Amino acid sequence: MQSQPTLPKQGLLSQLNDLPDVMSAEQSQQLLEETLRVYEDHIDRFLPLYVRVLGEEMLEWRAEGAFLYSPSGQRWMDCLGAGGVFGLGFRHPKVVDAVKKQLDRVGLSARLFVNPVTAALAQKLVSLAPAGLDQVWFANSGTESLEAALKLARLATGRPGIVGTQYGYHGMSIATLSISGLEAWRKGTEPAVGGSSVIPFNDIGSVKKAVTADTAALILEPVQWASGCEVATTEYLKAVREHCDKVGAFLIFDEVQCGLGRAGTLWGHTPSGVVPDILCVGKILSGGVMPLAAVLYNDKVRHGERDRPQFNNSSYGGNPMSCAAGLAALNVMTDDGVLDRAIDLGARLGVALDEFVKKYPKAIKAHRGAGLMRCLEMKQPSMGSVIQDYARKRGVIIASMMHMPQFVRVSPPFTATDEEFAFFLNAVEESLAEIARMSLMDLMRYNNDFGKHAQQVMMKLAQDRAAEA
Ligand SMILES: Cc1ncc(COP(=O)(O)O)c(C=O)c1O
Repeated sequence: MQSQPTLPKQGLLSQLNDLPDVMSAEQSQQLLEETLRVYEDHIDRFLPLYVRVLGEEMLEWRAEGAFLYSPSGQRWMDCLGAGGVFGLGFRHPKVVDAVKKQLDRVGLSARLFVNPVTAALAQKLVSLAPAGLDQVWFANSGTESLEAALKLARLATGRPGIVGTQYGYHGMSIATLSISGLEAWRKGTEPAVGGSSVIPFNDIGSVKKAVTADTAALILEPVQWASGCEVATTEYLKAVREHCDKVGAFLIFDEVQCGLGRAGTLWGHTPSGVVPDILCVGKILSGGVMPLAAVLYNDKVRHGERDRPQFNNSSYGGNPMSCAAGLAALNVMTDDGVLDRAIDLGARLGVALDEFVKKYPKAIKAHRGAGLMRCLEMKQPSMGSVIQDYARKRGVIIASMMHMPQFVRVSPPFTATDEEFAFFLNAVEESLAEIARMSLMDLMRYNNDFGKHAQQVMMKLAQDRAAEA
C-alpha cells in the first residue's frame, strides 16, 4: 500500500487511477464530497443523503477480508454484505487470482466457441447440487436467474401460472416483482405479469388453492430474508413438493441468498430433504468478486428446451471471468474448509443470539433464521435504526429492514477469523446492552434528534445548492 501526500485539491474523480490507497482525512473528505455530488446529480438521491446525515466517511475505497476501508483508513466489518454476497469476504485471494489469470487468457466470451472454465464450473456446481439437478444456465444476477427459471417453467409446462409467496423476494424486474411478496416493492409498476399470484408463506392450505393445473411453477425461498428470516418448515416443503407433483407444477427454490452455506447447510432446503425442479443460486457463487448466478434444473424441465437451440441468451452470462470466480469460490468452499466454517460459525451465532435474548430482554425479543443468515427481532421497531447506528459506531455494519424496522439483518462472512467473529458479536452485544439501558423517553429522544438532524442536513444542502445556482 503506497501513500502519496500531495494530491490535487479537486477533480479527484478524473484521476482515480492515480490516487493512493491511503489518503489524509482532508483528501478523503474531498473525494467523498465529489462522489456524493455526482450521485446526487446523476445516480441516486437517497444513498448520498443517508451518508451525509450519518456524517461518516462512508466511501468504499478498499476492501479486504471482512472489512471495508475508507480512503483515510477508517474500517468497518461488513456483516450485511450486499444481502449475503460476501460469504468469502472481500477479494478472497484465490478468487482474485483465478480471475486475474482468466483475464489474461480470455475475459469475456465471443459466444461462438465453448469455454473450458464455464464447463468446469458447471461440472463443479452439478456435483454440489441435489441429484437430478444437472442442467445449468449461467446468469449475471439473481434476478436474471429467476427470470430464466420462470421462463423454463412456462416453456416446459405450457402453462401461464407463476405463484410466489408473501415476503418472498426474487429481484426487481417486472416478472420477479410480480411474484415477490411485498406490496411496497410492486407499487407503481403494475400491472403484474399475467398469471402471477402471491400467497402466504408456510401455509400449505394456500398452496393447495393457488397451485393448480394452470400453474407452471411455485417459487419460494427455503429461508426468506424479507420476512425477517422466516424458515420454511420441513412439513410445509414436503407438502408443497407433494402438491406440485400432484398438479404437475414445477417447484422452484430461490436460493440466491440462502444457498451455498449461508443458512448453515450446503443448501437452504438441505434439512428438509425436499428437492426442487429448479434451483436458483447467486450471491456467494460470485466469490464476492465477479457477478454470477445460475439456474440448475432437472430433466423434466429440460423438456421445454426441445424446440429451440437456446431457451435463453445473455452477452455476459457465464462469461469466463465470472466462471473463474465461481469455480475458485466453490473450490475454496469445499477444499479449504470454508463451508464447514460457515456451518460452525452459523451454529455459534445461534447460541450467541439465544444468550443475548436471555440477557437483554429489554432490547431484543427473539431471533430468527439459520446459520449465518439471521435477523434480530428488536423489542420495539424504533430500536432497529438505533442498533444499526450503535453497531456501525463500533465498526460493524448490520441493517434494520426498511419495511419492518424491528428486524435487523446480520450476515457475517464465513471466512471471519475467531477474532473478527468475536469483534462482531461484541459490537452487537455492547449495542444491545446500551439499548437495554435506554428508557422509552431516551429512545424517542434519540429518534427525534436523528430526525431533526436529518432535516437540518437536508436544509443545508438545499441552501448550499441554491447559493451555487
Ligand atoms: C432470495 C433472492 N432472490 C433474488 C435476489 C436478486 O438477486 P440480484 O440482486 O443478484 O439480482 C436476491 C437479492 O437480494 C435475493 O435475496
